[in-house]
Amino acid sequence: MSKDNSKDKLWKGRFTEPTDAFVEKFTASVNFDKRLYAYDIAGSKAHARMLEKCGILTKTDRDQILQGLEDIQIDIESGNFAWSVELEDVHMNIEARLTAKIGAAGKKLHTGRSRNDQVATDIRLYLRDAIDHIKSELTRLQTALLNLAEAEADTIMPGFTHLQVAQPISFGHHMMAWFEMLVRDQGRFLDCQQRMNVSPLGSAALAGTSYPIDRFYTAEQLGFTRPSENSLDSVSDRDFAIEFNAAASLLLTHLSRFSEELILWASAQFDFINLPDRFCTGSSIMPQKKNPDVPELVRGKVGRVNGNLISLLTLMKGQPLAYNKDNQEDKEPLFDTVDTVMDCVRSFADMVPAIETKNDNMYKAAHSGFSTATDLADYLVRKGLPFRDAHEVVGLAVKSGVELNKDLSDMSLDELQKFSMQIENDVFEVLTLEGSIASRNHIGGTAPEQVRSAINRAREKLT
Ligand code: ARG
Repeated sequence: MSKDNSKDKLWKGRFTEPTDAFVEKFTASVNFDKRLYAYDIAGSKAHARMLEKCGILTKTDRDQILQGLEDIQIDIESGNFAWSVELEDVHMNIEARLTAKIGAAGKKLHTGRSRNDQVATDIRLYLRDAIDHIKSELTRLQTALLNLAEAEADTIMPGFTHLQVAQPISFGHHMMAWFEMLVRDQGRFLDCQQRMNVSPLGSAALAGTSYPIDRFYTAEQLGFTRPSENSLDSVSDRDFAIEFNAAASLLLTHLSRFSEELILWASAQFDFINLPDRFCTGSSIMPQKKNPDVPELVRGKVGRVNGNLISLLTLMKGQPLAYNKDNQEDKEPLFDTVDTVMDCVRSFADMVPAIETKNDNMYKAAHSGFSTATDLADYLVRKGLPFRDAHEVVGLAVKSGVELNKDLSDMSLDELQKFSMQIENDVFEVLTLEGSIASRNHIGGTAPEQVRSAINRAREKLT
């Protein structure tokens, strides 16, 4: 019986003793990098095709390799692949299995490459796809925001500064603020994706390879725009992972702010919206509770994503060129960030279309906080008062409103004229919430007409 050498280290030649059992586990990455298998196989296929095209492999070898890799992918996807820690990582697991399957040809696949350019290629392919998914989920969320903004363009709510009622605004306008943040997030992901889309394959361990390879061919096969410029940089660069994580941190920062507002608005104190039961959970002790768990969890998730950003930045800091084993530590934070972002955006894209607005409550809140005080000041300016004097007059009027427990629009002309004789009957048009929002009628303003044109422009850009 021949010895089973399928789990032998592929690099065992120069070693005189086996790896320490703990070191083997400590240095292995297969438990987490196996999720790169499809990208590893795609990269290997492109490499094998290129080797044949350049006369480095025979057609028979290439075809056996391609078939073997396809079979391995099927084995993995059908659960018939035993990942082995002895074989350290996804790359050597697949390569060893290939040789076990097809024999001598399998041993030729690694000609002119290294795990260093292999892993740099795999993560780029993985992240490129992940960004595509994130972008399309973000578009789903943006579409939901546009629909909600359109349906509620005329709905009046209080706008806040310092969480104090400031001026009335359109609920649709508020939704469009979230939309705009997501436009910038989309832009950052796209930008990162375009910058990272270059092929490291052919950089080999660090210096390139002595074989007559065609790096343009592998780049094209894998959908990269071109081969990377510098072999040392290519195998050690993880900027793209950091850049992606930074974009993810900003996106989750936005979603955490959005979450905070939904949580406030769903509370009994605000009571501006209802989040349907399917996005909430109850309390095991307090029977009356309905907790906004989804936004609360999303608000909390930014913590781990920011942690991952710091992990990646710290991991890269001070590393000498070129590849170092440190780089293996890039994967877990990166995967965690991708998973977290996907889950958060997905839950928001599902939840936003289900938000039920409580328009009367929002209106009442806008009506009770002297939200049209600025409108009265602007009115007095139009009647000839300098703005600072108008500000003072309205301040005194508000003080008396607080004492009388009356909004400015509920005070009589006589009551208002105590503060300025410039105030006339036409004042009531500007003191209404509707008049106030309609008057902010310029690009970027809260007038429903402007909100609708902002939505139209946004829809055009989105499709
Ligand atoms: N598992 C390794 C990683 O994730 C693959 C590259 C290893 N290269 C090496 N020369 N040890 O970074």
